[in-house]
Order: sequence, then C-alpha cells, then structure tokens
Amino acid sequence: MLDLNFFKIPKIIIALDFNNKKSAMELVNLLDPNIYYLKIGKEIFTILGCQFIKELHKIGFKIFLDLKFHDIPNTVFNATKAAADLGVWMLSVHASGGKKMLIAAKKALQSFQTAPLLIAVTALTSLKEKDLKEIGIQISLTDYIVKLSKLSNDCGLDGIVCPGQESKKIKFLFGNTCKIITPGIRISQDLLYDQNNVITPKEAKKFQIDYIVIGRSITMSKNPIKKLDAIIESMQ
Ligand code: C5P
Repeated sequence: MLDLNFFKIPKIIIALDFNNKKSAMELVNLLDPNIYYLKIGKEIFTILGCQFIKELHKIGFKIFLDLKFHDIPNTVFNATKAAADLGVWMLSVHASGGKKMLIAAKKALQSFQTAPLLIAVTALTSLKEKDLKEIGIQISLTDYIVKLSKLSNDCGLDGIVCPGQESKKIKFLFGNTCKIITPGIRISQDLLYDQNNVITPKEAKKFQIDYIVIGRSITMSKNPIKKLDAIIESMQ
C-alpha cells in the first residue's frame, strides 16, 4: 500500500462535488480509502444528506464535512454537535464568524471522545484583494488570512483552510499546532475555473501543507486514477 507519510507529502482530500450519487460513486469506487479522504460539500450534502455519509463510512472512508458553518454562536454550536454525531473526521466553519462563534464550535466538540478535526476557512481561494475591498476589508489578502488564522489558533481550532501562497507564512507563525488544508490545486493544463489562488501539488509539498483538496482536476478527468498517480508522483 502506498504510504504518503513515508514520502512526507500532503494527504489528498478529494472534493466530491457532484450533483448526483451515480457520478459520485463512479469516482468513489475507484478510490482506496486507505489513501484518499473525501470531502462532502454543500451541493452533494444538500442532495444526498447524512445517509450518503453513512454509506461512505461503511466503505471505510474518512469524511471531511465541508459545510463551512457561519452563523450565530448558538446555531453553530448545535450544527457542529450534529455534524460530530455523524462521526465525520473533519468539519469546517468560517473564521470570519468571529471569536464567539469559533469558541462555540470548539465547545460543541468537548463531549466527544473522538472529536472531528475542527478547521476554519480563512479566505476562499476564489477571492482576490479587490473582492475583500468590495466587502469593506481594507487590509491585504495575506494580512487578512494571517489575522483569521491567529484568531482560529487562539480559539483552539485544529487548523485552517488557506490558499497555498499564504501557507508558508502560517506554518512559520503557528508551526504544527495548526494543520493547513489547501484547495485550489492545479497541475499544468488544468483549467482555473473560478479559483484565483492556485498552486501545484509539488508546491504544496514544498510549502509543507498538511492536506490538499482536489476537486475538478479529478472529478472532470476522463482518467482520475491516472491523474492522481501523476499528482502523487509529482510530489515524491
Ligand atoms: O474544483 P476545485 O479543485 O477548485 O475545488 C475546490 C474545492 O475546495 C471545492 O469543493 C470548494 O468548495 C473547496 N474550497 C475552496 N476554497 C476554500 C475552501 C474550500 O475552493 N477556501
């Protein structure tokens, strides 16, 4: 079995961004749960719900439930608890929900013997500095990401989601207390789609990113396994 730890390369989370179960399962059936993690996002969760997560657990996959909670502390507390009850391995909230919301999410996991990793989204990888200005944020994208990472770390979260370019700085500032999860992964010839801050898998390894999230490069590929093999090889 391929041991990604041996090569010290980022672990791979596949974003199951599909609008139907058949397409999702076609990909899932090709993947080894000992190597790949699966990310359930808003689209497929809205269509297939908790039952689908239970089915994936039965096959042996660890699930990152990426619903990016962002609400008042009480609502996020209850939603986080409900997500943890599902037995997911990782779940996400938006760091911009603020300190009280982040602490509420963390508190919701206290009663679990094996709690999911709680991670906070700093800035979406689709955002540019211009987009931040439009919503009234006048600091640079990097400063915004560092600020939200510090807040998440101070609130005891396990890690953050951030673009690859900023990950080096976050690792330097917070070391291994803060896991880094990075979407926006592309290899040559891949289309950017709506992503702006992308890096290659090789760069992800260089930046010591813990987990990379790969969506359309794999979900839209005619030969996902060949592509995944090439991605892993490029990181060795
Ligand atoms: O298709 P692509 O590889 O761009 O997919 C990226 C995935 O990562 C999507 O599922 C998206 O929801 C998620 N994501 C992101 N940027 C973040 C957090 C999550 O693109 N900051």
